Amino acid sequence: MSSTISQPSPQNWQTVFINANIATMKSGSESYSAIENGALAVNAGKIVWIGAMDDLSEINLQDVVGIDVVDIAGQWLLPGLVDCHTHIVYGGHRANEFELRLQGASYEEVAKAGGGIVSTVKATRAASEQQLFDSALPRLKALQSEGVTTIEVKSGYGLDTETELKMLRVAKRLGEQPGVEVRKTFLGAHALPVEFADNADGYIDLVCNEMLPAVADAKLADAVDVFCEGIGFDIAQTERVFQAAKQHDIAIKVHAEQLSDLGGTELAAKYQALSSDHLEYLSEDGIKAMHQADMAAVLLPGAFYFLRETKLPPIDQLREQGVAMALATDANPGSSPIHSIQLMLNMACTLFRLTPVEAIAGVTIHGAKALGVDDKVGSLEVGKQADITVFNIEQVAQLCYQYGVNPLTAVYKAGEKVA
Ligand code: NIG
Ligand code: FE
Repeated sequence: MSSTISQPSPQNWQTVFINANIATMKSGSESYSAIENGALAVNAGKIVWIGAMDDLSEINLQDVVGIDVVDIAGQWLLPGLVDCHTHIVYGGHRANEFELRLQGASYEEVAKAGGGIVSTVKATRAASEQQLFDSALPRLKALQSEGVTTIEVKSGYGLDTETELKMLRVAKRLGEQPGVEVRKTFLGAHALPVEFADNADGYIDLVCNEMLPAVADAKLADAVDVFCEGIGFDIAQTERVFQAAKQHDIAIKVHAEQLSDLGGTELAAKYQALSSDHLEYLSEDGIKAMHQADMAAVLLPGAFYFLRETKLPPIDQLREQGVAMALATDANPGSSPIHSIQLMLNMACTLFRLTPVEAIAGVTIHGAKALGVDDKVGSLEVGKQADITVFNIEQVAQLCYQYGVNPLTAVYKAGEKVA
């Protein structure tokens, strides 16, 4: 049986990849939706045809004028990878806090003692826009070198209007780098800045009435996020930020149920959020709410590993309820100073017991869903943007199984070769 979606018409193709194994990661599938020994054609930045090499047997591609024929020689094509949760723009580092935690202090204790997020805020406020850009660029490049073509970058280490805007402008500038789209998320409600100590409601007023309108005016955010947690913001405060986001018609995401179960996920579901992220302490009601609201569950094994968390997110129940599980690095200076999406693939399988299919879906189609861009990227399907990675592997699961030898051999963004 032919797997061709339509008749091949190479006179309309700019580029065609031949002799390729293709993990299409088609939405709604429980497999890689693979086409072995296939071909994929691109025109005007989009995928216009996918099929079997056999379907091209009648056609002499050498005779087609202007077509770029790329012989993949049996390697695997995957969608460009999506890292849907990062905090790669920040000043300083937190190696000192790492040492303290190794001596027995917990992440929460460090935060309460004025370390943690607030210490990164100090360094981020002190850094110039150029310094922030210069320090974020190698982090972005590290992720791109492993196949990331779409990345989310959050603010949240400014905690005042000026510095939050500065961070988001840096994120926007990172998005001008070749080969990557940056989705920007405003995380003003990440922690309480020192100048608002004991006045969390006053700070939330500032977030809702000044910061968010300024960010929206400058068109610097695709989404709004809140750290809903004992050391972050409570449910009532979180809801006020969600309401403000709705007023500005900006999508909602939430950091929830990372260290305790406050019910941030159910609240986010009520506001049709795109995703809830972390989720180690997620309740059954939270899982049902996610299912009903068709939210993505963003799993962050890097933070689980680095904080030496022992409570696993409820993977089996998420799977049973059919909640789309996305997977991301959470790259940040405190809880996940890890800038490797390939390591997340490995950790998702070893620490969280995801199957390789689930892990790969997590950094492709489900990662795209967590950002609300799954209509455009995240799978190799006709009509989607031609964001394509080429891996020199024999079997897709190798991407999860082995770590440290990067098998990426090429990257295409909207059909253009960028690496
Ligand atoms: O996703 N949970 C809150 N935010 C980050 C940590 C930020 C930090 O510690 O600097 C996270 O884990
Ligand atoms: Fe995070």
